[in-house]
This record gives sequence, structure tokens and C-alpha cells, in this order.
Amino acid sequence: MQVYKWTDSLKTNIDKIDNDHKLIISKAQELADAMSQGKGKGQIVETLGFLQKYVKTHFAEEEIMQQKAKFSDIEMHKKNHTYFINELDKLSAKIAQDPTSTVNVIELNRLISGWFMNHIQKMDVEVAKHINGNNKN
Ligand SMILES: [Fe+2]
Repeated sequence: MQVYKWTDSLKTNIDKIDNDHKLIISKAQELADAMSQGKGKGQIVETLGFLQKYVKTHFAEEEIMQQKAKFSDIEMHKKNHTYFINELDKLSAKIAQDPTSTVNVIELNRLISGWFMNHIQKMDVEVAKHINGNNKN
């Protein structure tokens, strides 16, 4: 079942950012597919490992773009990124403690479908308008 879908409302019109977001969403869909086949617990370690690595680089790239564009709310945006990274780290620790729990799979799914999608739609799209506007000057 398709849980994650790329729509125009997620578009920042910055190719690198949009492509990163698409990849992250496709990884989340992979986990959702595994969940629906009862294989979520087997897939979560890989998905989470990917996210922990990929998201850090992705967020750092976004922050550099914001810095270059002199985006005024960069500190607030950074705090949001740090929140998500910490949540992934906490989840990773929980899985290490209890690898058989399905709660963690649901939790990761919730974090991506809730926090991450919301962050793209609300914050990244807004900041991209600033960055795109700035690049035209
Ligand atoms: Fe962001």
C-alpha cells in the first residue's frame, strides 16, 4: 500500500533538496511495504541506519544553503533538524535494547509520515522560497 507519495506541495524547486527528499520518502515507503508484509522488524534496522546517515548530510547541506542565502530563521530551522536526528538516535537505542518490539517500527513510520513530511511542507518549502529568491539577485 502506498503510504508515502510525492506531491507538488512538497516541492522546493531546489533539485538537490527535492531529490534527497524523494529518496528519503522512497525509503520510508520501503519500510511501510515491509510492515504490511509482516517484515517490518527485519527492515527497520536498515531503514533507520540509512536515515541516520543520510539525513545528517542532507540537513547539513540545507543549513549551508540557508547560511549562504542569509536566511534569518536558520537557528530555529537547525533546532528542528537536531530534534529529528535525536529522535532517530533514541529510536536506534531502543531497537538495540529490544529488537523484537514492533512499537519501534510504528514509531519510525510515525516520525517520517508526521514530523518529516510536515517539516518539508511547512519549513523547507518556505525557506526554499527565500533561497530561490536570493539566487535570482
Ligand atoms: Fe529542513
